[in-house]
Amino acid sequence: MWGFIFDLDGVITDTAKYHYLAWKTIADELEIPFTEEINERLKGVSREKSFEIILEVGNRLDMKSEERAKWCEKKNKLYVDYIKQMKKDEVLPGVRVFLEKIRKGGDCIALGSASKNSKLILERLELQKAFDVIVDGTMVTKAKPDPEVFLQGAKKMHINPENCIVFEDSTAGIEAAHKGGMKTVGIGDAKILRKADGVIAGFEGWTPEKIVEEVLFCVK
Ligand code: G6P
Ligand code: MG
Repeated sequence: MWGFIFDLDGVITDTAKYHYLAWKTIADELEIPFTEEINERLKGVSREKSFEIILEVGNRLDMKSEERAKWCEKKNKLYVDYIKQMKKDEVLPGVRVFLEKIRKGGDCIALGSASKNSKLILERLELQKAFDVIVDGTMVTKAKPDPEVFLQGAKKMHINPENCIVFEDSTAGIEAAHKGGMKTVGIGDAKILRKADGVIAGFEGWTPEKIVEEVLFCVK
């Protein structure tokens, strides 16, 4: 039996654009330059770490922790306003069918996300019932690339890490899954996700069996 573990942002749905808009507002207020390139570095990392990267770009690492917390809270309010408006058709192509196929095959499905907003996002996408297990940013103490989020997912599914396949769009997430002894499938660009065991552009046209046979155990 396999345990399939999915990251949320960038794998199930594209929330990067909302993170970008919210962080851009904050960066503009702080007069720190913020580009799509910097946004790429924020993928998979916690809210606090994301802000640290922004402060580093702006040479503002001297900011005190209470002030950092206020900006992070403000960013989250802006972000939540965007995700509250999400529609169920914002699930990435092929994801819903792929999840249904895993369910029919009898394997286990977990969410392994750094986000503290995962419940709201899954609700907006009408996907709450698609996961047997949910582990998110509200339940872990160590952020990716630490494997905690995925190891908790495996434990809750009662499946050994070596029988877990993690789907991730970020390098921090791929690293986390490997540290946890799991197999990895990168979602996106193979050049960026070169450490993943296999990379696919998206879920359209893929079945769980095809992933196991062609992506993870193929002769490269
Ligand atoms: C995901 C995203 C990151 C985000 C993190 C925390 O991993 O890829 O960009 O910073 O979740 O999200 P949150 O919704 O808790 O701010
Ligand atoms: Mg992600």
